[in-house]
Amino acid sequence: RNLARARTIEDLRAMAHRRLPAFALEYLEGGAEDEATLARNLSAYARYRLLPKALVDVSHRDQSVALFERSMPLPFAIAPTGLNGLFWRKADVLLARAAAEAGIPFIQSSMSNDPIEDVAAVPDLRHWWQLYVFGEPSIREALIARAERAQCEALVLTIDAQFYGDREWEQRRFAHPGRLTLASILECALHPQWAATTLSGGMPSFANLVDLLPKAHRRFFDGAFWIRAHMDHRLDWKEAARLRKLWPRRFLIKGLLDPADAEKAAAIGADGVILSNHGGRQLDWTVSGLDVLPDVRRRIGNRLTVIVDGGVRRGTDILKAFALGADAVLVGRAPLYGLSAGGRKGVTRAIDILRDEIDLDLGLLGARSINELGPQFLAR
Ligand code: FNR
Repeated sequence: RNLARARTIEDLRAMAHRRLPAFALEYLEGGAEDEATLARNLSAYARYRLLPKALVDVSHRDQSVALFERSMPLPFAIAPTGLNGLFWRKADVLLARAAAEAGIPFIQSSMSNDPIEDVAAVPDLRHWWQLYVFGEPSIREALIARAERAQCEALVLTIDAQFYGDREWEQRRFAHPGRLTLASILECALHPQWAATTLSGGMPSFANLVDLLPKAHRRFFDGAFWIRAHMDHRLDWKEAARLRKLWPRRFLIKGLLDPADAEKAAAIGADGVILSNHGGRQLDWTVSGLDVLPDVRRRIGNRLTVIVDGGVRRGTDILKAFALGADAVLVGRAPLYGLSAGGRKGVTRAIDILRDEIDLDLGLLGARSINELGPQFLAR
């Protein structure tokens, strides 16, 4: 009922704020330390102004783009986010259904609360799997094998979270690793709507990891802390190259920012990179993906598919990213605001809002398609 009244991603965000208990909300919104990176993701877009073209026939506007030789009707995809089960029951299946309906890829996180097979069963989905590297090599190999069996189109190796960023507000919500404080437990009781749609099937679990974790650490929050403590700090280019060889389909590296690293990704045979600072949740005071996009593009030309994420809340953000050379954009929090506001319908509302904004913005900009965007549409 209210979803139709949400005009902007910001409206969905306000609705999410009303529905979620504090610990889930802070997990969704928070960044690391002083949140300078988080703020940068938003302000990076403000550095650019659009330069519209006059008197262009824009009676037809085309926002489709090709991603890995397949056309998609919208220029963005859904970023991998873990623990979505804190926002709605069967969250990743709902996100995947909304993505499939819109014709865009959904990247399922290693920390997903839904079995990879349940997401793979969503008809017509472009299903990508995001890999975290932790524990013994046998764990990452088992996850890669699962993703292959589930017919995932691409593997996304996230490399910016080998240490868990210091999201300080999050620590205050846990009495000790793996246990919520009494105040947080009370919060759940004070948000009955959230509890009804989220906890009704019981506590979420790491559906794809439980059988790979030590027996004593399979409970939800406890498992999260175990994984955090066992992220592989030795992960390097050599191991990334080995994982690349284990995976037969598209391989992307997510979380690099230095153009020289994009060059290295190409050298180990990656198909793409996702320029990202993890939504401001890892190292504080980094640049944003958008900041480095032009340099990466200059340096690697068309050797890699270049995707950017962080801070996308408006159609104009997406147009700017394409004008700077992106092949696609990921949205992380935007669909999660929709999910938290109203489940599956809320995700679709978030996608619709972005689609409508892009369509209007293309018309106003005097651009007939996303594909014709370039620096000629931008001023600093
Ligand atoms: C993330 N992100 C993330 N990335 C990843 O590779 N694996 C993961 O499990 C998660 N988990 C996660 C949870 C939550 C709640 C958020 C907000 C983000 C990072 C994500 O993929 C993406 O890089 C950012 O979300 C992009 O920034 P915006 O769109 O949220 O501003």
